[in-house]
Amino acid sequence: MSSARQYKICVIPGDGIGPDIVDSACQVLAKAASLEGFTLAYTTVDAGGAAYDKTGHPLPEETVATAKNSDAILLGAVGGPQWDKLDPALRPEQALLGLRKELGLYANLRPAILYQPLANASPLKPEITERGIDMLIVRELTGGMYFGEHKSWGENETREASDIETYSYEEIARITEIAFDQAMNRRRHLTLVDKANVLASSRLWREVAGEIAVSYPEVTLDYMYVDNASMQLVKRPYDFDVILTSNMFGDILSDEAGQITGSVGLLPSASLGKPGTPGMYEPIHGSAPDIAGQNKANPLATILSAAMLLRISLKEEKAATRIENAVNHVLNEGWRTADLAYADTEIPAEQILGTIEITEKVLARV
Ligand code: IPM
Ligand code: MG
Repeated sequence: MSSARQYKICVIPGDGIGPDIVDSACQVLAKAASLEGFTLAYTTVDAGGAAYDKTGHPLPEETVATAKNSDAILLGAVGGPQWDKLDPALRPEQALLGLRKELGLYANLRPAILYQPLANASPLKPEITERGIDMLIVRELTGGMYFGEHKSWGENETREASDIETYSYEEIARITEIAFDQAMNRRRHLTLVDKANVLASSRLWREVAGEIAVSYPEVTLDYMYVDNASMQLVKRPYDFDVILTSNMFGDILSDEAGQITGSVGLLPSASLGKPGTPGMYEPIHGSAPDIAGQNKANPLATILSAAMLLRISLKEEKAATRIENAVNHVLNEGWRTADLAYADTEIPAEQILGTIEITEKVLARV
C-alpha cells in the first residue's frame, strides 16, 4: 500500500456562518482521511458577498478555475442583508448559481433523514415520526425558471416582470436517469413532483419520465402535483423514497423536508455533473448572518456534506461512513446545537454545545 491517495479539495467558506461550519467540516474530513490513509490538499477561495467585497464580483474567475481543477468542492453558504440591495447580477446568490452553471452541476441530491434521537425536534406528531423518514430529493439544478430569462419593464402602474420556465428533453432525461438509479439502490419508489395540471413544462417532465421508466421495470413511478406533495410530506413523509422534481419545486420542497426531520441544520447536499466533473457539496441551509462568528452555528449539515463528498466524488466509502457514524453517535449521546435544542424542550442546557465543541465531539468519534 505505498501509492498514497491524494485529493484536491476546493474550499469555499462564503458568507455568514459559512466560515464557521466549513472550518468544522475540514477538520473532520482531515481526521477521517488520516485514519483511512489518504490526504487532502485544501485550496480556499472566495465566493458570494465576501468575494464581492474583495473583488467587486461574487464569483471571481480564480474561484471558478480552482473549482474546476479540484476533485471536489466544499461550500459553506452565501448571502447576507448587506448585499441585498445590489444589482441582481452581483448578489451573492449569483456565486452559487454561477458555480452550478459553470461546472454543469445539474443533479442536486438532498437526502432528508430523521435521526430518531431528534424526533422531538420535528414539528410532526410522534405517531408520524416513529415510522421514520428517509427520503432523497433529486432536484434539477441548472435549468428551469432559475436560468430562464428574467425581465422587468414598464413604469409606475404599467410595471411588469417575467421569469421563464423552460426544460428540454435532454435536461429532463439526464436527471430522471439519476433519480431512477438512486431509486434502484433504495426502496425502488420514485415520485415525480410537478404541476402538470397547469404547466406545459411539467407535462413534458411526465412524458419523459414515463419513457425512461420503461428501462427501470423494478422501480414504481408515481406522479404528484406539487401542492399535494407539500401536504403529503407533512402527513405521511414515511411513504416517500425518491422525489424527482424541477429546480424551483426542489428548492421549496427540500426546505420543507429539512424542517420535518427536526432542523434544516442537518441536511447535506451533493451537486453533480457529468462523470469527471468535480461535485460540489454544501448544506442546504443558508448563511444565518445573525449568528455568524459567534460559535453558535450547527456544523452538522456541512460535516454530513463532507461525508457525501468522500463517498460520491472520492469513492472513500469507509471514511464517509466513519463521519456519518460519528454524527449519529454524538446525537445519540444527546449532544445538540442551539437550533436542534430549540424545538425540543427536554434537552438540558448542559447538552447544548457551540460549533467548536460539537465539532470536537464529532472528531473524537470519527
Ligand atoms: C438552495 C438555496 C439557493 C437556491 C439560493 C441561495 C440561490 O436556497 O441551494 O436551496 O435557491 O438554489
Ligand atoms: Mg433553498
